[in-house]
Amino acid sequence: MLQTVVIYRSTSGFTKKYAEWIAKECNADIYDAKEFSVQQLSDYSTIIFGGSLHAVGINGIKLVKQNLPKLTDKKIVVFAVGLHRQKKVFSVK
Ligand SMILES: Cc1cc2nc3c(=O)[nH]c(=O)nc-3n(C[C@H](O)[C@H](O)[C@H](O)COP(=O)(O)O)c2cc1C
Repeated sequence: MLQTVVIYRSTSGFTKKYAEWIAKECNADIYDAKEFSVQQLSDYSTIIFGGSLHAVGINGIKLVKQNLPKLTDKKIVVFAVGLHRQKKVFSVK
């Protein structure tokens, strides 16, 4: 059965920690983006991507942006971890 995967990109471990909490709550598989192969996307119906805020965007979001054609039939959730409250809403398109 297709299920949920949490994929994260984390430099110092903060985003990883949030990803672990989310994966546990969602009973989802979890991968560091560096160890996740794009071919694995077909194994999942819901993709949750997390990265840290880096001024101009979300660290590692290109994994989602570059693979949007492969994600049209999936639910996509993006979360970001940062130091400050953000009023900006980022678009992946
Ligand atoms: C170059 C750089 C730019 C950053 N820009 C932002 C920002 O615009 N907004 C924010 O809230 N945090 C910003 N941060 C803080 C990181 O998002 C924050 O430390 C985050 O927890 C790092 O998570 P990670 O270690 O899991 O990658 C920035 C950090 C760095 C190193």
